[in-house]
Amino acid sequence: MAEDAKSFQAKPPEQVDPLQPPTSDPQPQTLKDKETRPLVTRRDFLVRSNAGAAAVGAMTGVGFAAGLGEQRTRSPQARPPALPAPVTMRRVALDIDGRRYDVTVDVRESLWETLNHQLGLSNSNLGCDRAQCGACTVLVDGRAVNSCALLTARLGRGQKIVTVAGIALGPGPEGLHPVQRAFWLEGGFQCGICTRGFVMSAYALLRTTKNPTNAQIKEALAGNICRCGEYAGILRAVQKAAAELRGEAVTYSAPLKPAEEARPATAIAGGSVSKQFEFVTPLGTIEQFDELSLELKQKPGILGVSGTERTITPVWDPTRLDEAKVRQILAESGHPVKP
Ligand code: FES
Ligand code: FES
Repeated sequence: MAEDAKSFQAKPPEQVDPLQPPTSDPQPQTLKDKETRPLVTRRDFLVRSNAGAAAVGAMTGVGFAAGLGEQRTRSPQARPPALPAPVTMRRVALDIDGRRYDVTVDVRESLWETLNHQLGLSNSNLGCDRAQCGACTVLVDGRAVNSCALLTARLGRGQKIVTVAGIALGPGPEGLHPVQRAFWLEGGFQCGICTRGFVMSAYALLRTTKNPTNAQIKEALAGNICRCGEYAGILRAVQKAAAELRGEAVTYSAPLKPAEEARPATAIAGGSVSKQFEFVTPLGTIEQFDELSLELKQKPGILGVSGTERTITPVWDPTRLDEAKVRQILAESGHPVKP
């Protein structure tokens, strides 16, 4: 019994000089460990000086000190856990033109900023940056929205985002969507800043309205502004795109090249003829030209009209009109042209 009590007696702590190298190492070491590990590590120092993790914990915080000791003896592949994102950031998965993008965004970041600055997708233009011009329009779940005024952080729940690059049916000019082709071939643009926005609003309209009236088109495009005033061409482009989508045969007014505008009456592609005339009295504004252009396009034989406040270039069908008749139509509209 006395022997048993003796055998259970606690042993006094082993006295070790912390500055002396250990006589034996409790952890098996690899050759590499032995080569790279210092003679006395901080962990060795703490263990052998009997201070222990508890004492260190009391002085510096248990987790931190234990973590430090562990990190120094872990394999080099081990990494500390990733820090949580700041509260002003969100991680979202965006579905853009059928592709998934995982991105971390500031909660104040607009969709336009994410598209352009984070993802490098320059498929929408920035005009006003305050939901007034529509240049930045994209589709979210089929609805035309201003991407400058929509927070990206709210779009990570499977919404389908479509930009102008996502509606093309194939590569090259042949692969353009009918709405894109119509804007191009009907000259529904000038500087082009607004065009992507108009194309997307028109595309959204034609998904649900196959045969829109001019009033419906104007209503659908009311959130888009064209500072170049190409509304006549835009209206025409949407009507022609709608006709093409309905499966009807469509003839587009091919855009005129500057070199062709300066020539006398010339036969151009498709058997039509065009000539540039100069108004006797220039128009007051470009908006006045748009009204005149709309009026002239209703005349039989007139296939297209382009121009400025000073000049006008009608395109006509030579089997129905000649230059004299075109001059007469212009004079009857109240805008005679110089001989
Ligand atoms: S840039 Fe978005 S509405 Fe003008
Ligand atoms: S084409 Fe210039 S703003 Fe519309």
